[in-house]
Amino acid sequence: MTAMAKLRTVHRCTECGSVSPRWVGRCPECDTWNSLVEELEASVRATGSTSSPGMAKVQAMSDVSSSDGQPSPTGIDELDRVLGGGLVPGSVTLLGGEPGVGKSTLLLDLLARRAASGERVLYVSGEESAQQVRSRAERLGAVHPQLFFSSDAAVPLVLAAIDQVRPTLVVIDSIQTAEEPDIASAPGSIVQVRECAHRFTRVAKTRSLPFVLVGHVTKEGGLAGPRVLEHVVDTVLSFEGERHHALRLLRATKHRFGSTNELGLFEMTEAGLVGVPDPSGLFLADRRSDVIGSAVVATMEGQRPLLVEVQALVADTPLSMPRRSAQGIDSSRLAMLLAVLDKRVNLSLAKLDVYVSAMGGVKLNEPGSDLALCFALISSFLGTPVPADLLACGEVGLGGEVRQVAQTARRLAEGSRLGFRRAVVPESARGVSAAGIEVIRVGSVAEALRVAGLLPSL
Ligand code: TYD
Ligand code: MG
Repeated sequence: MTAMAKLRTVHRCTECGSVSPRWVGRCPECDTWNSLVEELEASVRATGSTSSPGMAKVQAMSDVSSSDGQPSPTGIDELDRVLGGGLVPGSVTLLGGEPGVGKSTLLLDLLARRAASGERVLYVSGEESAQQVRSRAERLGAVHPQLFFSSDAAVPLVLAAIDQVRPTLVVIDSIQTAEEPDIASAPGSIVQVRECAHRFTRVAKTRSLPFVLVGHVTKEGGLAGPRVLEHVVDTVLSFEGERHHALRLLRATKHRFGSTNELGLFEMTEAGLVGVPDPSGLFLADRRSDVIGSAVVATMEGQRPLLVEVQALVADTPLSMPRRSAQGIDSSRLAMLLAVLDKRVNLSLAKLDVYVSAMGGVKLNEPGSDLALCFALISSFLGTPVPADLLACGEVGLGGEVRQVAQTARRLAEGSRLGFRRAVVPESARGVSAAGIEVIRVGSVAEALRVAGLLPSL
Protein backbone atom coordinates (compact mmCIF):
# COMPACT_ATOMS: atom_id res chain seq x y z
CA MET A 1 0.00 0.00 0.00
CA THR A 2 1.30 3.45 -0.81
CA ALA A 3 0.47 6.77 0.69
CA MET A 4 -0.03 9.44 -1.90
CA ALA A 5 0.17 13.11 -1.06
CA LYS A 6 -1.46 15.48 -3.48
CA LEU A 7 -2.19 19.17 -3.28
CA ARG A 8 -5.48 20.61 -4.34
CA THR A 9 -7.25 23.89 -3.93
CA VAL A 10 -10.51 23.97 -2.06
CA HIS A 11 -12.81 26.71 -0.86
CA ARG A 12 -13.72 26.26 2.72
CA CYS A 13 -16.30 28.08 4.81
CA THR A 14 -14.71 29.70 7.87
CA GLU A 15 -17.98 29.34 9.77
CA CYS A 16 -19.07 25.76 9.25
CA GLY A 17 -16.02 24.21 7.62
CA SER A 18 -17.86 22.85 4.60
CA VAL A 19 -15.95 22.59 1.34
CA SER A 20 -16.95 23.88 -2.03
CA PRO A 21 -15.01 23.23 -5.28
CA ARG A 22 -15.54 26.81 -6.50
CA TRP A 23 -15.72 30.13 -4.72
CA VAL A 24 -19.26 31.29 -4.14
CA GLY A 25 -20.47 34.39 -2.33
CA ARG A 26 -22.68 32.50 0.07
CA CYS A 27 -21.85 29.21 1.78
CA PRO A 28 -24.21 26.56 0.39
CA GLU A 29 -24.22 24.75 3.77
CA CYS A 30 -24.74 27.43 6.41
CA ASP A 31 -25.83 30.41 4.24
CA THR A 32 -23.17 32.76 5.62
CA TRP A 33 -22.09 35.47 3.20
CA ASN A 34 -18.44 35.96 2.21
CA SER A 35 -17.17 33.19 4.44
CA LEU A 36 -15.40 31.06 1.85
CA VAL A 37 -11.61 31.20 1.70
CA GLU A 38 -9.28 29.45 -0.67
CA GLU A 39 -7.05 26.87 0.91
CA LEU A 40 -4.45 24.44 -0.26
CA GLU A 41 -5.22 21.10 1.18
CA ALA A 42 -2.78 18.25 1.30
CA SER A 43 -4.81 15.12 1.45
CA VAL A 44 -2.89 12.04 2.25
CA ARG A 45 -4.89 9.01 1.27
CA ALA A 46 -4.13 5.38 1.30
CA THR A 47 -4.83 4.03 -2.14
CA GLY A 48 -5.28 0.47 -3.21
CA SER A 49 -7.15 -2.54 -2.16
CA THR A 50 -10.47 -2.78 -0.39
CA SER A 51 -9.43 -5.93 1.44
CA SER A 52 -8.87 -5.96 5.20
CA PRO A 53 -5.72 -3.98 6.12
CA GLY A 54 -4.91 -6.25 9.10
CA MET A 55 -6.10 -6.93 12.61
CA ALA A 56 -8.66 -4.57 14.08
CA LYS A 57 -8.52 -3.92 17.80
CA VAL A 58 -11.62 -5.55 19.26
CA GLN A 59 -12.20 -5.99 22.97
CA ALA A 60 -14.90 -7.71 24.96
CA MET A 61 -16.86 -5.04 26.83
CA SER A 62 -16.32 -6.98 30.05
CA ASP A 63 -12.54 -6.63 29.61
CA VAL A 64 -12.64 -2.87 29.35
CA SER A 65 -11.60 -1.34 32.65
CA SER A 66 -14.13 1.10 34.03
CA SER A 67 -11.73 2.93 36.35
CA ASP A 68 -10.28 4.90 33.42
CA GLY A 69 -12.97 7.50 33.37
CA GLN A 70 -12.63 8.77 36.96
CA PRO A 71 -12.18 12.55 37.07
CA SER A 72 -9.31 13.81 39.15
CA PRO A 73 -9.80 17.15 40.90
CA THR A 74 -7.97 20.16 39.47
CA GLY A 75 -7.71 21.95 42.80
CA ILE A 76 -9.81 24.86 41.49
CA ASP A 77 -13.21 24.33 43.09
CA GLU A 78 -15.24 26.35 40.60
CA LEU A 79 -13.61 24.52 37.67
CA ASP A 80 -14.20 21.14 39.31
CA ARG A 81 -17.84 22.06 39.83
CA VAL A 82 -18.30 22.67 36.09
CA LEU A 83 -16.32 19.57 35.12
CA GLY A 84 -18.29 17.39 37.52
CA GLY A 85 -15.29 16.58 39.72
CA GLY A 86 -12.22 17.28 37.63
CA LEU A 87 -10.36 16.29 34.49
CA VAL A 88 -10.84 12.76 33.16
CA PRO A 89 -7.66 10.96 32.00
CA GLY A 90 -7.33 11.08 28.22
CA SER A 91 -10.03 13.73 27.88
CA VAL A 92 -9.77 16.74 25.60
CA THR A 93 -11.32 19.96 26.85
CA LEU A 94 -11.75 23.06 24.76
CA LEU A 95 -11.79 26.33 26.72
CA GLY A 96 -13.36 29.05 24.60
CA GLY A 97 -13.71 32.74 25.31
CA GLU A 98 -13.03 36.20 23.99
CA PRO A 99 -9.48 37.54 24.10
CA GLY A 100 -8.68 39.01 27.51
CA VAL A 101 -11.39 37.18 29.43
CA GLY A 102 -8.78 35.23 31.42
CA LYS A 103 -8.32 31.85 29.72
CA SER A 104 -4.53 31.83 30.01
CA THR A 105 -4.73 33.04 33.60
CA LEU A 106 -7.11 30.25 34.60
CA LEU A 107 -5.05 27.54 32.91
CA LEU A 108 -1.74 28.74 34.30
CA ASP A 109 -3.31 28.55 37.74
CA LEU A 110 -4.53 25.03 36.98
CA LEU A 111 -1.08 23.92 35.78
CA ALA A 112 0.66 25.44 38.80
CA ARG A 113 -1.68 23.65 41.20
CA ARG A 114 -1.08 20.36 39.47
CA ALA A 115 2.68 20.96 39.54
CA ALA A 116 2.54 21.87 43.23
CA SER A 117 0.84 18.55 43.95
CA GLY A 118 3.87 16.75 42.51
CA GLU A 119 2.86 16.25 38.88
CA ARG A 120 4.76 17.23 35.77
CA VAL A 121 2.74 19.45 33.48
CA LEU A 122 3.33 21.06 30.09
CA TYR A 123 2.19 24.49 28.96
CA VAL A 124 2.49 25.16 25.23
CA SER A 125 1.86 28.77 24.33
CA GLY A 126 2.12 29.97 20.78
CA GLU A 127 0.67 33.27 21.91
CA GLU A 128 3.15 34.60 24.42
CA SER A 129 6.91 34.46 24.91
CA ALA A 130 8.54 32.56 27.76
CA GLN A 131 9.31 35.93 29.44
CA GLN A 132 5.70 37.07 29.25
CA VAL A 133 4.47 33.79 30.66
CA ARG A 134 7.10 33.89 33.39
CA SER A 135 6.15 37.38 34.52
CA ARG A 136 2.48 36.43 34.60
CA ALA A 137 3.31 33.24 36.50
CA GLU A 138 5.25 35.30 39.05
CA ARG A 139 2.26 37.53 39.60
CA LEU A 140 0.03 34.48 40.08
CA GLY A 141 2.53 32.63 42.27
CA ALA A 142 2.61 29.93 39.58
CA VAL A 143 6.35 29.49 39.06
CA HIS A 144 7.18 25.85 39.70
CA PRO A 145 10.03 23.57 38.57
CA GLN A 146 7.59 20.84 37.50
CA LEU A 147 5.70 23.24 35.21
CA PHE A 148 7.34 23.08 31.78
CA PHE A 149 6.91 25.62 29.03
CA SER A 150 7.26 25.45 25.28
CA SER A 151 6.54 28.25 22.87
CA ASP A 152 6.44 26.00 19.83
CA ALA A 153 2.96 24.90 18.90
CA ALA A 154 3.85 22.83 15.82
CA VAL A 155 2.33 19.40 16.40
CA PRO A 156 5.54 17.32 15.97
CA LEU A 157 7.36 19.61 18.42
CA VAL A 158 4.53 19.36 20.92
CA LEU A 159 4.75 15.57 20.66
CA ALA A 160 8.53 15.75 21.15
CA ALA A 161 8.01 17.98 24.19
CA ILE A 162 5.55 15.45 25.59
CA ASP A 163 8.10 12.66 25.15
CA GLN A 164 10.72 14.78 26.87
CA VAL A 165 8.65 16.06 29.78
CA ARG A 166 6.33 13.05 30.28
CA PRO A 167 3.58 15.30 31.65
CA THR A 168 0.25 14.32 33.22
CA LEU A 169 -1.52 17.34 31.73
CA VAL A 170 -0.95 19.37 28.56
CA VAL A 171 -2.36 22.83 27.85
CA ILE A 172 -2.24 24.19 24.29
CA ASP A 173 -2.71 27.98 24.28
CA SER A 174 -4.24 28.35 21.69
CA ILE A 175 -5.44 25.83 19.12
CA GLN A 176 -5.43 28.70 16.60
CA THR A 177 -1.64 28.97 16.90
CA ALA A 178 -1.08 25.21 16.63
CA GLU A 179 0.25 24.00 13.31
CA GLU A 180 0.56 20.73 11.44
CA PRO A 181 3.51 21.42 9.07
CA ASP A 182 2.31 18.84 6.50
CA ILE A 183 -0.69 21.03 5.78
CA ALA A 184 -0.14 24.03 3.58
CA SER A 185 -2.75 26.32 5.13
CA ALA A 186 -1.84 28.96 7.67
CA PRO A 187 -2.26 28.35 11.42
CA GLY A 188 -5.73 29.34 12.53
CA SER A 189 -7.38 28.18 9.32
CA ILE A 190 -10.18 25.68 9.62
CA VAL A 191 -8.10 22.86 8.13
CA GLN A 192 -5.22 23.46 10.54
CA VAL A 193 -7.41 23.89 13.61
CA ARG A 194 -9.34 20.73 12.85
CA GLU A 195 -6.30 18.64 12.00
CA CYS A 196 -4.33 19.77 15.06
CA ALA A 197 -7.32 19.10 17.33
CA HIS A 198 -7.60 15.62 15.79
CA ARG A 199 -3.91 14.93 16.33
CA PHE A 200 -3.98 16.06 19.95
CA THR A 201 -7.13 14.06 20.57
CA ARG A 202 -5.47 10.90 19.28
CA VAL A 203 -2.46 11.49 21.54
CA ALA A 204 -4.77 12.15 24.49
CA LYS A 205 -6.66 8.89 23.95
CA THR A 206 -3.68 6.65 23.27
CA ARG A 207 -1.67 7.95 26.23
CA SER A 208 -4.55 8.62 28.63
CA LEU A 209 -3.17 12.13 28.87
CA PRO A 210 -5.65 14.97 29.42
CA PHE A 211 -5.37 17.98 27.11
CA VAL A 212 -6.88 21.41 27.49
CA LEU A 213 -7.06 23.43 24.27
CA VAL A 214 -7.68 27.16 24.33
CA GLY A 215 -9.94 28.45 21.56
CA HIS A 216 -10.52 32.10 20.77
CA VAL A 217 -14.03 33.09 20.12
CA THR A 218 -14.79 35.11 17.02
CA LYS A 219 -16.70 38.41 17.11
CA GLU A 220 -19.93 36.61 16.29
CA GLY A 221 -19.50 34.49 19.40
CA GLY A 222 -18.57 31.15 17.79
CA LEU A 223 -15.28 29.37 18.29
CA ALA A 224 -13.20 29.64 15.14
CA GLY A 225 -14.37 26.65 13.18
CA PRO A 226 -16.96 25.98 15.85
CA ARG A 227 -18.72 22.90 14.61
CA VAL A 228 -15.46 21.41 13.44
CA LEU A 229 -13.94 21.58 16.92
CA GLU A 230 -16.92 20.90 19.07
CA HIS A 231 -17.45 17.36 17.95
CA VAL A 232 -13.75 16.49 18.06
CA VAL A 233 -13.34 17.25 21.77
CA ASP A 234 -15.00 15.69 24.83
CA THR A 235 -15.84 18.87 26.66
CA VAL A 236 -16.44 22.44 25.56
CA LEU A 237 -16.17 25.09 28.25
CA SER A 238 -17.10 28.66 27.65
CA PHE A 239 -15.56 31.46 29.68
CA GLU A 240 -17.54 34.68 29.67
CA GLY A 241 -17.49 38.07 31.29
CA GLU A 242 -18.07 41.72 30.69
CA ARG A 243 -14.95 43.73 29.95
CA HIS A 244 -15.69 46.28 32.65
CA HIS A 245 -16.70 43.82 35.34
CA ALA A 246 -14.52 41.52 37.38
CA LEU A 247 -17.05 38.68 37.25
CA ARG A 248 -16.26 35.68 35.04
CA LEU A 249 -18.68 32.83 34.31
CA LEU A 250 -17.57 29.38 33.31
CA ARG A 251 -20.01 26.88 31.86
CA ALA A 252 -19.91 23.66 29.92
CA THR A 253 -21.75 23.69 26.60
CA LYS A 254 -20.82 20.08 25.90
CA HIS A 255 -19.61 17.53 28.42
CA ARG A 256 -19.17 13.88 27.64
CA PHE A 257 -18.55 12.97 31.30
CA GLY A 258 -21.30 14.80 33.11
CA SER A 259 -23.96 17.46 33.19
CA THR A 260 -23.76 20.80 31.39
CA ASN A 261 -25.87 22.45 34.03
CA GLU A 262 -23.24 23.70 36.42
CA LEU A 263 -21.94 27.23 36.56
CA GLY A 264 -18.53 28.28 37.83
CA LEU A 265 -18.00 31.84 39.03
CA PHE A 266 -14.73 33.71 39.34
CA GLU A 267 -13.62 37.21 40.10
CA MET A 268 -10.64 38.64 38.21
CA THR A 269 -8.36 40.26 40.77
CA GLU A 270 -4.82 41.63 40.89
CA ALA A 271 -3.68 38.17 41.93
CA GLY A 272 -5.52 36.28 39.18
CA LEU A 273 -8.85 34.53 39.21
CA VAL A 274 -10.47 33.86 42.54
CA GLY A 275 -13.46 31.52 42.91
CA VAL A 276 -16.70 33.07 44.14
CA PRO A 277 -18.38 30.55 46.46
CA ASP A 278 -21.08 33.04 47.53
CA PRO A 279 -22.15 34.90 44.37
CA SER A 280 -25.44 36.20 45.77
CA GLY A 281 -23.52 37.83 48.61
CA LEU A 282 -21.20 39.42 46.07
CA PHE A 283 -24.00 40.66 43.82
CA LEU A 284 -25.94 42.19 46.68
CA ALA A 285 -22.91 43.66 48.47
CA ASP A 286 -23.37 47.14 46.98
CA ARG A 287 -27.12 47.17 47.25
CA ARG A 288 -28.73 49.95 49.25
CA SER A 289 -32.17 49.29 50.62
CA ASP A 290 -35.15 51.49 49.82
CA VAL A 291 -33.73 52.64 46.53
CA ILE A 292 -36.38 53.58 44.01
CA GLY A 293 -36.36 51.37 40.90
CA SER A 294 -34.51 48.44 42.47
CA ALA A 295 -35.75 44.88 43.04
CA VAL A 296 -34.08 41.56 43.77
CA VAL A 297 -34.74 38.48 41.70
CA ALA A 298 -34.02 34.91 42.71
CA THR A 299 -32.77 33.35 39.50
CA MET A 300 -31.15 30.02 38.64
CA GLU A 301 -27.93 29.60 36.71
CA GLY A 302 -27.81 25.90 35.98
CA GLN A 303 -28.16 24.22 39.36
CA ARG A 304 -27.11 27.30 41.24
CA PRO A 305 -29.54 29.79 42.79
CA LEU A 306 -28.42 33.39 42.40
CA LEU A 307 -29.85 36.56 43.86
CA VAL A 308 -29.39 39.48 41.52
CA GLU A 309 -30.45 43.10 41.82
CA VAL A 310 -32.27 44.54 38.82
CA GLN A 311 -32.58 48.29 38.42
CA ALA A 312 -34.84 50.41 36.29
CA LEU A 313 -34.91 54.09 35.54
CA VAL A 314 -37.94 55.62 33.90
CA ALA A 315 -37.48 59.22 32.81
CA ASP A 316 -39.20 62.00 30.88
CA THR A 317 -37.88 62.40 27.39
CA PRO A 318 -37.87 65.11 24.73
CA LEU A 319 -37.73 62.39 22.06
CA SER A 320 -40.75 61.33 20.07
CA MET A 321 -39.31 57.80 20.02
CA PRO A 322 -38.37 57.23 23.68
CA ARG A 323 -35.17 55.36 24.44
CA ARG A 324 -35.12 51.74 25.56
CA SER A 325 -31.89 50.43 26.98
CA ALA A 326 -31.35 47.01 28.56
CA GLN A 327 -28.11 45.70 30.05
CA GLY A 328 -27.93 42.05 30.98
CA ILE A 329 -31.62 41.75 30.13
CA ASP A 330 -33.10 40.77 26.80
CA SER A 331 -34.49 43.89 25.16
CA SER A 332 -37.41 42.07 23.51
CA ARG A 333 -38.36 40.72 26.95
CA LEU A 334 -38.35 44.29 28.26
CA ALA A 335 -40.58 45.42 25.37
CA MET A 336 -43.01 42.61 26.13
CA LEU A 337 -43.19 43.43 29.85
CA LEU A 338 -43.83 47.10 29.05
CA ALA A 339 -46.70 46.05 26.79
CA VAL A 340 -48.14 43.76 29.48
CA LEU A 341 -47.94 46.53 32.10
CA ASP A 342 -49.68 48.88 29.68
CA LYS A 343 -52.49 46.52 28.62
CA ARG A 344 -53.06 44.45 31.76
CA VAL A 345 -52.27 46.87 34.59
CA ASN A 346 -53.02 50.11 32.78
CA LEU A 347 -49.64 51.62 33.56
CA SER A 348 -48.21 53.02 30.34
CA LEU A 349 -44.53 53.87 30.06
CA ALA A 350 -44.80 54.35 26.30
CA LYS A 351 -43.87 58.05 26.32
CA LEU A 352 -40.95 57.70 28.72
CA ASP A 353 -37.32 56.66 28.38
CA VAL A 354 -36.73 53.29 30.03
CA TYR A 355 -33.35 51.98 31.18
CA VAL A 356 -32.99 48.60 32.87
CA SER A 357 -29.91 46.80 34.08
CA ALA A 358 -28.95 43.58 35.85
CA MET A 359 -26.22 44.52 38.32
CA GLY A 360 -22.80 42.93 38.64
CA GLY A 361 -22.36 42.10 34.94
CA VAL A 362 -24.83 39.21 35.12
CA LYS A 363 -26.98 38.24 32.16
CA LEU A 364 -30.53 37.36 33.10
CA ASN A 365 -31.90 35.30 30.25
CA GLU A 366 -34.34 33.37 32.33
CA PRO A 367 -38.07 34.33 32.37
CA GLY A 368 -38.08 33.92 36.19
CA SER A 369 -36.76 37.48 36.43
CA ASP A 370 -39.88 39.01 34.77
CA LEU A 371 -41.69 39.79 37.99
CA ALA A 372 -38.72 41.54 39.63
CA LEU A 373 -38.21 43.56 36.47
CA CYS A 374 -41.87 44.71 36.61
CA PHE A 375 -41.33 45.72 40.25
CA ALA A 376 -38.26 47.76 39.36
CA LEU A 377 -40.01 49.45 36.42
CA ILE A 378 -43.12 50.44 38.34
CA SER A 379 -41.10 51.42 41.40
CA SER A 380 -39.19 53.92 39.27
CA PHE A 381 -42.35 55.05 37.48
CA LEU A 382 -44.17 55.81 40.75
CA GLY A 383 -41.15 56.89 42.79
CA THR A 384 -41.94 54.29 45.45
CA PRO A 385 -39.28 51.84 46.66
CA VAL A 386 -39.86 48.07 46.69
CA PRO A 387 -39.71 46.76 50.30
CA ALA A 388 -36.10 45.79 51.03
CA ASP A 389 -36.95 42.34 52.41
CA LEU A 390 -39.13 41.32 49.45
CA LEU A 391 -37.95 38.85 46.84
CA ALA A 392 -39.67 38.18 43.51
CA CYS A 393 -39.59 35.16 41.30
CA GLY A 394 -41.97 34.33 38.50
CA GLU A 395 -42.51 34.51 34.78
CA VAL A 396 -45.05 37.00 33.41
CA GLY A 397 -47.33 35.81 30.61
CA LEU A 398 -48.89 37.96 27.89
CA GLY A 399 -52.22 37.85 29.76
CA GLY A 400 -50.58 39.47 32.79
CA GLU A 401 -50.64 36.17 34.67
CA VAL A 402 -47.71 35.06 36.83
CA ARG A 403 -46.31 31.67 35.90
CA GLN A 404 -44.26 29.15 37.71
CA VAL A 405 -40.52 28.71 37.23
CA ALA A 406 -38.34 25.71 38.07
CA GLN A 407 -36.84 25.14 41.51
CA THR A 408 -38.73 27.86 43.37
CA ALA A 409 -37.90 26.33 46.77
CA ARG A 410 -34.15 26.48 46.14
CA ARG A 411 -34.42 30.10 45.06
CA LEU A 412 -36.29 31.01 48.22
CA ALA A 413 -33.80 29.16 50.43
CA GLU A 414 -31.02 31.31 48.94
CA GLY A 415 -33.13 34.40 49.65
CA SER A 416 -33.64 33.32 53.24
CA ARG A 417 -29.90 32.82 53.68
CA LEU A 418 -29.31 36.43 52.60
CA GLY A 419 -31.92 37.93 54.89
CA PHE A 420 -35.06 38.18 52.75
CA ARG A 421 -38.26 37.65 54.71
CA ARG A 422 -41.02 37.70 52.08
CA ALA A 423 -41.24 36.27 48.60
CA VAL A 424 -43.78 36.82 45.85
CA VAL A 425 -44.24 33.60 43.85
CA PRO A 426 -46.80 32.32 41.31
CA GLU A 427 -50.19 31.07 42.48
CA SER A 428 -49.36 27.63 41.08
CA ALA A 429 -46.28 27.22 43.31
CA ARG A 430 -48.33 25.43 45.95
CA GLY A 431 -46.60 23.87 48.91
CA VAL A 432 -43.38 25.78 48.27
CA SER A 433 -41.76 26.99 51.46
CA ALA A 434 -38.44 28.06 52.85
CA ALA A 435 -37.39 28.58 56.45
CA GLY A 436 -37.79 32.17 57.60
CA ILE A 437 -39.64 33.32 54.48
CA GLU A 438 -43.27 34.27 54.18
CA VAL A 439 -44.43 32.98 50.80
CA ILE A 440 -47.02 35.15 49.08
CA ARG A 441 -48.70 33.52 46.10
CA VAL A 442 -50.13 35.75 43.39
CA GLY A 443 -52.06 35.09 40.18
CA SER A 444 -51.34 38.27 38.25
CA VAL A 445 -48.78 41.07 37.90
CA ALA A 446 -51.34 43.53 39.28
CA GLU A 447 -51.73 41.41 42.42
CA ALA A 448 -47.94 41.15 42.76
CA LEU A 449 -47.58 44.93 42.47
CA ARG A 450 -50.19 45.35 45.22
CA VAL A 451 -48.24 43.04 47.52
CA ALA A 452 -45.15 45.14 46.87
CA GLY A 453 -47.08 48.31 47.73
CA LEU A 454 -46.75 49.58 44.19
CA LEU A 455 -50.50 49.66 43.48
CA PRO A 456 -53.26 50.65 45.90
CA SER A 457 -54.98 47.61 47.42
CA LEU A 458 -58.45 46.84 46.18
P1 TYD B 1 -5.69 36.47 29.89
O1 TYD B 1 -5.63 35.29 30.78
O2 TYD B 1 -4.45 36.85 29.19
O3 TYD B 1 -6.87 36.35 28.85
P2 TYD B 1 -7.00 35.39 27.59
O4 TYD B 1 -5.97 34.34 27.70
O5 TYD B 1 -8.41 34.89 27.70
O6 TYD B 1 -6.84 36.26 26.39
O7 TYD B 1 -6.24 37.66 30.81
C1 TYD B 1 -5.88 38.92 30.48
C2 TYD B 1 -6.63 39.94 31.29
O8 TYD B 1 -6.72 39.63 32.65
C3 TYD B 1 -5.87 41.21 31.19
O9 TYD B 1 -6.79 42.20 30.76
C4 TYD B 1 -5.34 41.49 32.55
C5 TYD B 1 -6.21 40.69 33.44
N1 TYD B 1 -5.49 40.12 34.59
C6 TYD B 1 -5.79 40.55 35.87
O10 TYD B 1 -6.64 41.42 36.07
N2 TYD B 1 -5.14 39.99 36.94
C7 TYD B 1 -4.19 39.03 36.78
O11 TYD B 1 -3.62 38.54 37.77
C8 TYD B 1 -3.89 38.59 35.45
C9 TYD B 1 -2.85 37.56 35.21
C10 TYD B 1 -4.56 39.16 34.40
MG1 MG C 1 -4.33 34.04 26.44
